[in-house]
Amino acid sequence: MTHLREMAAPLPKTMKAAVLVAPEQFELREVPLPVPGPDDVLIKVKRCGLCGTDMHIYHGKYSSDRLPLIPGHEFSGHIAALGDAVTGLALGQGVTADINVGCGRCFYCRKNEVMNCPTMVQIGIHVDGGLAEYVRVPASHIVPVARDTAIELAALTEPVSCIVRAVRRSRLQLGESVLILGAGPIGNLHLQVARQAGAAPIIVSDPNPERAAWAKASGADYVVSDASTLADVVEKATQGRGADLVIESVGLTALYEQAFDLVRPGGRVLAFGLCDQGAHAHYAPFKVVLKELGLQGSVAGMGDDMHDAMTLIAHDRVDLDAFVETVYPLERIAEAMAAFIADKRINKVQIAVG
Ligand SMILES: NC(=O)c1ccc[n+]([C@@H]2O[C@H](COP(=O)([O-])OP(=O)(O)OC[C@H]3O[C@@H](n4cnc5c(N)ncnc54)[C@H](O)[C@@H]3O)[C@@H](O)[C@H]2O)c1
Ligand SMILES: [Zn+2]
Ligand SMILES: [Zn+2]
Repeated sequence: MTHLREMAAPLPKTMKAAVLVAPEQFELREVPLPVPGPDDVLIKVKRCGLCGTDMHIYHGKYSSDRLPLIPGHEFSGHIAALGDAVTGLALGQGVTADINVGCGRCFYCRKNEVMNCPTMVQIGIHVDGGLAEYVRVPASHIVPVARDTAIELAALTEPVSCIVRAVRRSRLQLGESVLILGAGPIGNLHLQVARQAGAAPIIVSDPNPERAAWAKASGADYVVSDASTLADVVEKATQGRGADLVIESVGLTALYEQAFDLVRPGGRVLAFGLCDQGAHAHYAPFKVVLKELGLQGSVAGMGDDMHDAMTLIAHDRVDLDAFVETVYPLERIAEAMAAFIADKRINKVQIAVG
């Protein structure tokens, strides 16, 4: 029998949860409360964001072998119970979580490359996540919410952490030019964090005029919505060289190919946008060698990426206003997902729980 420390009011036996029972079929169910083990923490969820990955899960394109599942990997809340062996955390404390749970001991875990750990599972993707009143997380993966940071902003730590990792993986340096292909919510975060990292100039390309306007308002030096002018703009902005770093933030093979035409000799392409599994893009190895080009992938955010993302949020280094303006209660999850899929003006949906 696990001994738990829990909030003054005893925990309920069941909780409300949005269960994806089959593709495109959410059911609001009363399910048993997750039982934390000695090294686990039980979080009472306040907010949980939806993102493109949730859309893929919803449509049955990703993780469909895990259904029924409680999705949700961008959650924040307060600690409701602590396993016996947990130290350094307090009941009632505001927290979010690093959702990438590896074995903690293998070659990849030691290097904070947890996605390659053979036993890695992601909370809200492979196992039950934050679209419920409570979620269980190993204490080692708890990320405390910085003091005075709003809990709804803390729920954005996971998406911001993906960008923090991307900056590291791409080895972005002060004064480097960056071209961001795609100005969706993720492209916008790339833009904001690249500015913080000292990139200049930053060029953003998106055919959607509203997204392009958002990028301009977020501080892009050049914004391109007519793709036929992109090569020209990049050339002028970089003294004819091409960008030091090109970030693909859409997920199209044609753009991955174009990235190699827009990067400068000696520059790097950051592979970030997710193409269909099994899709292939073409590049000229000859050119990669002769021009000393780099191609670097980056996936998710984990370990310090999460803690550093929290620090950036706590100190207002990213403007997240546009990410917290569309909020639905848990009971309306199906409607929230439908709106998120149908309306491209919605940059992010957050679910308010409890
Ligand atoms: N690697 C990671 O860790 C990671 C993390 C989160 C998201 N992603 C991926 O990043 C990508 C972007 O995410 P998002 O939530 O912003 O997606 P999104 O679909 O909301 O936005 C994509 C944007 O790309 C624009 N676009 C379409 N065609 C374009 C083109 N030819 N040139 C330039 N822009 C074009 C669209 O108008 C849209 O604004 C997705 O592929 C997502 O799966 C990767
Ligand atoms: Zn996500
Ligand atoms: Zn491991």
